[in-house]
Amino acid sequence: MKMSKLAIIGLGHVGSAVLAQAMAMNLASEIVCIDINEKVAHGEALDATHATPCTYVPGMKVYSGDFSQCKDADIIICSAGPSILPGEKLDRLILAERNVKVISEIMTEVTKYTKNTPFIMITNPLDVTTYLAATKFGYEKGKLFGTGTTLETLRLKRIVANHYNVDAKDVQGFMLGEHGNSAFPAWSTISIGSVRLADLDKYYDHNCEFDKKAIAQEVVNTAYDVLLSKGWTNTGIAMGACRLARAVIFNERCVTPVSTPLDGEYGLTDVALSLPSIVGANGVEKRLAIDLPEDELKALQFSAESIKTVLRANKL
Ligand code: 2OP
Repeated sequence: MKMSKLAIIGLGHVGSAVLAQAMAMNLASEIVCIDINEKVAHGEALDATHATPCTYVPGMKVYSGDFSQCKDADIIICSAGPSILPGEKLDRLILAERNVKVISEIMTEVTKYTKNTPFIMITNPLDVTTYLAATKFGYEKGKLFGTGTTLETLRLKRIVANHYNVDAKDVQGFMLGEHGNSAFPAWSTISIGSVRLADLDKYYDHNCEFDKKAIAQEVVNTAYDVLLSKGWTNTGIAMGACRLARAVIFNERCVTPVSTPLDGEYGLTDVALSLPSIVGANGVEKRLAIDLPEDELKALQFSAESIKTVLRANKL
């Protein structure tokens, strides 16, 4: 049964986790693994074929290939390139020089075969690589987007749910801005089961204002806790990316913050960052420039400036 064909570019810790998660979620009937190291791509694909007897997609195929396999792919997920190594400065923006080169090479190859296949970028610094890939290679508008603060939003939901001892699936709202150190919780969007935190705090002995600052910092720092503990992060980002891929493949039109180049929202241009967006079969169907209070607008502007500084430094 032909469902979708997923192309995974980069089979490192993140790409291999995406492969495993995509199979577990029955996202595709065909998965091609593309990596600069052909042996790794072959090994990851062969390893994954050993899991196919446990999958429920008839005729499930996993194989390695080159960029020409993007021609008839229904969706592409890219996490190629180095990530922060323990001992390096804990700021994804330091990866810009290395990964601008990696993503430029990849997009040069991919756009030989397609400029409109829905494309989910994971490679860091995410907003920089997303801006580069989405604006400099003639890719169709909206079709290429970055996982962005979807990952921070997952972390926020977990941390807020722990704080209030409630189901994380009932925590609504967004982290916005940079996928990185300047990501911020848009507290004006956050509720638990549609109950505003201010109303909920009556039932807890919380110091709400203190907690908000502590939670905001914890969401950013928790990525580094994982990185310094195990050497990389992959499970959270892989689940987040596959959740977005599911929205594309099944045209779910989910509402989540992803990174795309802005068209003047909040007076911002020439930058990509995460705003709440509707994600469906055509990638980002709509970006939602929601009303934000002054402090959150300031945080968004700060995020934009952090990313723009790196874009300028890399002549993008
Ligand atoms: C993460 O936030 C490192 O960007 C990666 O998990």
